[in-house]
Amino acid sequence: MKLGINIDHVATLREARGGNSPDVLQAAVMAQKAGADGITVHLREDRRHIKDADVLAIKKKIKIPLNLEMSLAQDVVDFALNVVPGKICLVPEKRQERTTEGGLDVAGDRERIRRTVQSFKDKGVVVSLFVEPESAVVEAAQEAGADFVELHTGAYANAFLTDDPALWKKELIRLHNAAQEAHQRKLGVNAGHGLDYSNVEHIVKIPHIEELNIGHSIISRAVFVGLSKAVKEMKNLIAQHALSEAT
Ligand code: PXP
Repeated sequence: MKLGINIDHVATLREARGGNSPDVLQAAVMAQKAGADGITVHLREDRRHIKDADVLAIKKKIKIPLNLEMSLAQDVVDFALNVVPGKICLVPEKRQERTTEGGLDVAGDRERIRRTVQSFKDKGVVVSLFVEPESAVVEAAQEAGADFVELHTGAYANAFLTDDPALWKKELIRLHNAAQEAHQRKLGVNAGHGLDYSNVEHIVKIPHIEELNIGHSIISRAVFVGLSKAVKEMKNLIAQHALSEAT
């Protein structure tokens, strides 16, 4: 299972003072060197952390795929169509939220999503839709022409915090079922949001998930152990639990 590192929060720290420290491009290069399979950044409409220039610099420098998380806002879409990242993940966005709160309402915005997906596919960009782990949304994602769904693991991560196995196992089953549904519909499956060093184990064992996108927990851990070690620790955890599933 691959690991995409979301480096938004390196930019969050930079924006706290406004200079160029910590350097977001250096973080991308370091994560690549530590074994990341991809670099993910969310270019938010208000540009509160990642800026257009970061996206351009990272795209130019790294050799692993750049995954651009983005809303359907026209200026962001136009910018991304010029950048042509390796992949995009369309997410819903609310200005006041601290982080992406829910999955895309694919059925509710069907035509705009279908048009946007097609415009990226025409440029050879792999398109993913960030969705709740629900059968109807996975079906709508397929109808919209997406290549991948990224299953929202936020509810699972929140349930895990309660230490009530009944709660988080229920969320895990939803993720299992949605991954299975997506696979049957010939969609690729990624997952992410709220994943950390303690809750990732059960996600790794879900069949068909190709890549996890993890940000906050890895950047937080990097404060104490450095980015390189934080990335390697997560890579090792994923490999170890994938292995325990296979044996
Ligand atoms: N995937 C998507 C689509 C996201 O919006 C985010 C948050 O930016 C992540 C993954 C990473 O979430 P976290 O920072 O909680 O690991």
